[in-house]
Amino acid sequence: MTRQDWWADAVGYEVYLPSFCDSDGDGWGDLPGVLSKLDYLHWLGVDLLWLTPFYRSPMHDHGYDISDYRDVDPRFGTLADLDRLIDEAHELGMRVISDLVVNHSSNEHPWFLMSRSSKDNPYRDHYLWRPGRGPGQPPNNWVATFGGPAWTYDEHTDEWYAHLFTPEQPDLDWGNPKVADEVESIMRFWLDRGLDGFRVDTAHYLAKHPDLPDNPRLPADRVRLIGGAVADWYHYDHQHDIGQPALHDIHRRWRMIADDHGAFLVGETHMLDPGALAGYLGRDGLHSYFYFGLIQAEVDAGGTEADLLRAAATASPALSWAQSSHDWSRAATRYGAARSLALTTLTIGLPGTPFLYQGDELGLVNGVVPADQAQDPLAKRGGNHEHNRDASRTPMPWRAEENLGFTSADKAWLPFGDRTPADTVEVQQQDPHSILNAHRRLLHVRRELPDLRRTEPTWLDTAPGLVAYQCGNTVVAANFGTAPAELDGDWLLRYSTVDRTEPGPLAPDEAVILERVARPSPPAS
Ligand code: NOJ
Repeated sequence: MTRQDWWADAVGYEVYLPSFCDSDGDGWGDLPGVLSKLDYLHWLGVDLLWLTPFYRSPMHDHGYDISDYRDVDPRFGTLADLDRLIDEAHELGMRVISDLVVNHSSNEHPWFLMSRSSKDNPYRDHYLWRPGRGPGQPPNNWVATFGGPAWTYDEHTDEWYAHLFTPEQPDLDWGNPKVADEVESIMRFWLDRGLDGFRVDTAHYLAKHPDLPDNPRLPADRVRLIGGAVADWYHYDHQHDIGQPALHDIHRRWRMIADDHGAFLVGETHMLDPGALAGYLGRDGLHSYFYFGLIQAEVDAGGTEADLLRAAATASPALSWAQSSHDWSRAATRYGAARSLALTTLTIGLPGTPFLYQGDELGLVNGVVPADQAQDPLAKRGGNHEHNRDASRTPMPWRAEENLGFTSADKAWLPFGDRTPADTVEVQQQDPHSILNAHRRLLHVRRELPDLRRTEPTWLDTAPGLVAYQCGNTVVAANFGTAPAELDGDWLLRYSTVDRTEPGPLAPDEAVILERVARPSPPAS
């Protein structure tokens, strides 16, 4: 293994900071809260923490709108808290990454305040300002991911600025080399301070077509609605606002900086076509990109998810695997906890980096958040509660108490989500048969079987419903059918998602890790 590819052996864990653990009783998660849970994460078997943004922010998008890229927001703690967290994580053998959110800044960032102040301010070109097509007419037909036009009119200079998310998140102009220089210096600042890399937010947005042409509208039969954005967004073919060729150069330069620091870059890139996604990888791209197939797939008992996984694993050995995140409906809601664990078991042995989202290890389903308590800007702007990301963001249930041991306050920033005692870490840790302990065993078994993730998998032909691959002497199999199914051969059982000690037919939604038993050679005659 080279110094740079430590992530190939790591299991990642996404900490959605506002909802993980509150140490100071304000109902909002913080860095000292994470510090207090490092032992838990270490016990679970996590190697890599992804902390969602801790930078200064007015929190219009809960940290994804940054007003100072070089400081910690006081609601999350201090720089000293971050230093302590990174040091203690390192002592436990864990790495720590956070978000790089540079498609846009906050509209309260000093760059934007200066940019807005006049047309000849030196920071004007840090953002995309254009005159309208006519009175009240934005410069082009682009829509924001969260709904409405991607342009907001500013009376002060009689021009519009672009934002592919909310108006509080103006897009930086990646055609301006000064923006690239600023961002690279920010990256070095954090890597020098001890961060081990970045999850690159909307890694395929950033650059826009230099002429900002209209996007073609899609015919109705080509519109595919999936969660995570409002309907408007899916009615266009995003030829000119995202996925531009200039991205490759941006990623290439970031990769050089990361490689100098032995750091890891993993991109958030919503591309469901594994081939297209794999096209971003390679020596010049980021080290890895999240594969969103399992996050966005529709539930289908016919093993569709496994097919997706297989296609993605075949396209690239460097993708990062996840089933949930703070932006999407939880995996246990879409798949059920047993099937979700079976899918995690399949990803655990593949080359690439598997990630859990906080609470996945408990088999948590979406939390209940009444519409009138919505906090998510997407839900508020789209006016569509179905696209409410709050449901996957309710506080982490630590203990079987009213405030879940998340906070000492009576209320948290989001409702507690109607969790039961059986959902909590406290109760599940004591139950050897809990889904939490099943995840823990899985993460620890992975460490003992380095061949798995380091060897290209051979996919096996199996009975219908059964999905299996082999790496060396090890086989990972999951049964997505409705009847028990068996693999041929003599096996040693290394892991099962259910309670069993001997190999045998796999129950529906069970997954196993098996080692082939070597048959003694026949005695020489
Ligand atoms: C993706 C992040 O995961 C999401 O939470 C955020 O709203 C958008 N990018 C905008 O930064």
